[in-house]
Amino acid sequence: MITKPKGTYDLYGTDERIYSYISNLIDDYMINYNYDKIRTPVFEASELFHRGVGETTDIVTKETYDFTDRGGRSITLRPEGTAGVVRSFIENKLYGNRSDAIKFYYNETMYRYERPQAGRYRELTQIGVEVFNSDDVMIDAEVISLGYNILKELGLNDAVVKLNTLGDAESRKNYTKALVDYFKPHVKELCEDCQRRLDTNPLRLLDCKVDSDTELFKNAPVISDYLTPSSIERFNKLKEYLNILDVDYEINYNIVRGLDYYDHDVWEYFLEDNNLALGGGGRYNTLIKSLDGPEMPAVGFAFGVDRLISVIKNKIGENEAEKTLDAFIMSINEEERMFAIKISQTLRLNNISCEINSTNLGLKAQFKQADRLNSKFLVLLNSEDLKKGIITIKDNKTKEEVKVDESEVVDYLLGNI
Ligand code: HAM
Repeated sequence: MITKPKGTYDLYGTDERIYSYISNLIDDYMINYNYDKIRTPVFEASELFHRGVGETTDIVTKETYDFTDRGGRSITLRPEGTAGVVRSFIENKLYGNRSDAIKFYYNETMYRYERPQAGRYRELTQIGVEVFNSDDVMIDAEVISLGYNILKELGLNDAVVKLNTLGDAESRKNYTKALVDYFKPHVKELCEDCQRRLDTNPLRLLDCKVDSDTELFKNAPVISDYLTPSSIERFNKLKEYLNILDVDYEINYNIVRGLDYYDHDVWEYFLEDNNLALGGGGRYNTLIKSLDGPEMPAVGFAFGVDRLISVIKNKIGENEAEKTLDAFIMSINEEERMFAIKISQTLRLNNISCEINSTNLGLKAQFKQADRLNSKFLVLLNSEDLKKGIITIKDNKTKEEVKVDESEVVDYLLGNI
């Protein structure tokens, strides 16, 4: 038997229904927030991610799926959505002469060669948003609250935003120096990854999963002491807007994010009792220029949809996401079968979901099948009644039966489902 590749999964049943539910909700939400959907290729030139996500990030050094195609090109399966959307934005000149905020969202699979474990897959799905062309803190607040409101709408009422600022370039430069000065004398106490990070990407030390509980890390310098006055002012304004929008946020100076492109605010979405981030994002004002586009600010975030599915499933349980059917049409003999196939089409074309007896089951087995499919109604055909144009409809819960004229079946069901 051929099995699925490590770190991937097949999506079906309850999980698939939750995924579709999330996707539909997002599509509606994005209309309200005035976003356009964008789809970009699963694979891109490797250089895009090296330059976009960052040469020294864990994602690029350890986690990308890279290959050389038959034409000798270096190709990478996208590990995240931002770089591809930015590439498309630049290549297709989607900025035009626009002076408004330009908003996109996507719902796509990403690929990261990570060690598979709960909530960590090699093929993952992200729903993300990217907003270009506005450096107004108002839009940061809108984007953060959009994600927060989606979580609430999904029933995740204990969602919190963990928020930090990396400040402007000057703040980051000062802070990075402070971190290096602080950790350098202790380099031998650091894990292997952090020893490397100290040289290549000191901010990422704060993201260390191995040593973060040690005294050394607890006493490390914090970004808030190194922010320039204008960065502080910007961050305060953001908090003010988030208060207006009723977003439950907490400041967490250790949120630095695993990608290189951020400046100013960065955040992650969590549930109170869960330390796996459901999503994360931030402002990235220099990425578009660094990928050869115009100088244009941007902000965005992405949810990990696989993680959303699992927390929603925990919350609602299997039952609530169970599939239901409006009607099961029962038939035994050929005359009834011919009627069943005809009426099933009529019902389906009228937005009534139904199933027929297409495997020649006996009566008892059909009742069982209808129960298994959670059918609300049974449409009972019998040859005698059919001659008079009469059909019996049974409520599968109350077991009440009514006889209706053939021409009234649709209206009856629509009025009762
Ligand atoms: P990220 O934090 O790398 O950000 O990923 C966003 C979310 O994707 C994470 O919070 C997590 O829920 C989910 N995720 C990441 N890796 C995995 C995995 N291996 N398995 C399952 N879920 C995973 C980004 O990707 C940025 N592009 C977000 C962004 C958009 N920033 C600005 N715009």
